[in-house]
Amino acid sequence: MSSKEIRNKFLEFFKKKGHAIVKSSSLLPDDPSVLLTTAGMQQFKPYYVGKADAVRDFGSKNATSVQKCFRTSDIEEVGDNTHLTFFEMLGNFSFGGYLKKEAIRYAYEFVIEELGIERDRIYVTVFAGDPTTPEDKESYKIWHEEIGLPKEQIRRSGRADNWWGPTGNEGPCGPTTEIYVAKSPEDAKAGIGVEIWNVVFNEYFKDKDGNFNKLAVPGVDTGMGLERLVTMMQGVDNVFETDLFASIIKQIHEVSHDLEPSVIRILADHLRASIFLIADGVRPSNKEAGYILRRLLRRVLAYSSKYDIHADLFTLVLENVNEIFGDIYPEVKNKEEILNVYYEEKGKFAKALSDGLKIFNNLISEKKSQSFVENLRELVGLKKKVFLSGYDAFSLYETYGFPKELMQEFCKEKQIIFDEAGFDEEYKKHQETSRAGAEKKFGGHGLVLDTGELKAGSNEDMEKVIRLHTATHLLQKALRNTLGDEVKQMGSDINPERGRFDFSFTRKLTEEEVKKVENEVNDIINRDLPVYFKEMPIEEAKKTGALFFFKEKYPNIVKVYFVGPKGGSNEKAYSIEFCGGPHVEHTLQVGSFKIQKQESVGAGTRRIKFLIK
Ligand code: ALA
Repeated sequence: MSSKEIRNKFLEFFKKKGHAIVKSSSLLPDDPSVLLTTAGMQQFKPYYVGKADAVRDFGSKNATSVQKCFRTSDIEEVGDNTHLTFFEMLGNFSFGGYLKKEAIRYAYEFVIEELGIERDRIYVTVFAGDPTTPEDKESYKIWHEEIGLPKEQIRRSGRADNWWGPTGNEGPCGPTTEIYVAKSPEDAKAGIGVEIWNVVFNEYFKDKDGNFNKLAVPGVDTGMGLERLVTMMQGVDNVFETDLFASIIKQIHEVSHDLEPSVIRILADHLRASIFLIADGVRPSNKEAGYILRRLLRRVLAYSSKYDIHADLFTLVLENVNEIFGDIYPEVKNKEEILNVYYEEKGKFAKALSDGLKIFNNLISEKKSQSFVENLRELVGLKKKVFLSGYDAFSLYETYGFPKELMQEFCKEKQIIFDEAGFDEEYKKHQETSRAGAEKKFGGHGLVLDTGELKAGSNEDMEKVIRLHTATHLLQKALRNTLGDEVKQMGSDINPERGRFDFSFTRKLTEEEVKKVENEVNDIINRDLPVYFKEMPIEEAKKTGALFFFKEKYPNIVKVYFVGPKGGSNEKAYSIEFCGGPHVEHTLQVGSFKIQKQESVGAGTRRIKFLIK
């Protein structure tokens, strides 16, 4: 049975049982409590808690999907027989349509009748109960009395195994019953087998304070890892031998030299996962999902150089991924865009490496830090065994985007002791300082405006940040007119004191360039052009030539802001950008614009701070 057949069989089975087939949601979830989508139920969270109506949205209280998932918790395990970062999850869900009886019956029927697994090779577990929540006696009874599964094939287990959720710090959760497949009936009775299906009964809602409250309408959420199921159904040893991976492994094997299987698997996993992340709009950065992607890509690049692989693995594997997944997840067919993101990151990585090495050298000549100098001796080939302190490592990371993983590898190779705990501590300290800074600035009071990008604590502040926001659009356009289209927004942060704009560009601007940009922005301001927005479908919006910030995930209908004469054709507008606002109505309201300073913030990224009067 091919993986495609298995996906179809699953969806068709549940369709026959009255479920609506729902497309996989993006790996970038709408749910702000998690960085990436980790389970099939995530896109359905609002339906469990009565915030959305499944009948209105899907025409049924029951849904089924094959969901793209990503679990960061498994990154370090990748390389063995089973662990992956990106994977697919088959699931059926009910939001008040049915509960335990049907859920168990469907799962049993699918495993035995559709997959053809012998009944005496399965065993199941049910929740044993604990002081917080009671035993799931009902599920036990259904398995035993209605399905007729002998007692030896039913086990009770605690919270660690038979409880699920919530994702993030609050949400639906509840007891589970899990189905295992064993190699023989003896193993099944002994409880030796592989878990294939997790059937969750969302009977509770855990709130932020940790209380379990009974949900008004309990729901069903199930998850079966596709890769594991396919491994079993194709009778192979591990997931990398299934049709989901075989051609990728073969490809990497062909262009690399006798790499250890674990390294090939890491490359295969990370390449596949990066492609899916990029296809869903994740962009490499130093935080959140962007950082996860950066880590995967930089590990691939670091391995490529370490193991002397000359072929461009990413480009090659993108073709394999298109063959295997192109007709199921059409977003991976967006090859040009995906490659652009990859090449950009590859360039930044090369720059980070060379900048980082330059720093080592500078530090030698300036003799700033004794311990560091010792490290450098080691790096330039002198023998002494040395130590890379957390502080130095973090500075390198923060200033040059030198990845932690690479420092680890680098140190391992050169037999330098890397104080990883010290690095993590510096990292944490840094995060706390930035957070504390934000709180201090606004005196602990609620912000009247906080879009993530714009922050204001009072109405007066708000007016100022809105003016600065419009200035940001003008600045971006003027930078592109002066320096070329390689300028792209990498980030922006605005508070009442100043605007900050990060963009991709590789060198310092000359004094003339700074003047030219300033003059252009002030010229547009003085022309008092109207600023207005239109809402339109995303495809149409892209056709206007609007700039957009790729880090962001956009809805189907987007807001596009124009600065320019109204009523004319769009081309006449000076600036067009996807943006949620808010903005001033006329450019003269911005006031006079001045660049305060420019600096570098890591490989290939410049930062401009600017003021308005
Ligand atoms: N949400 C459950 C899981 O991911 C089904 O295992």
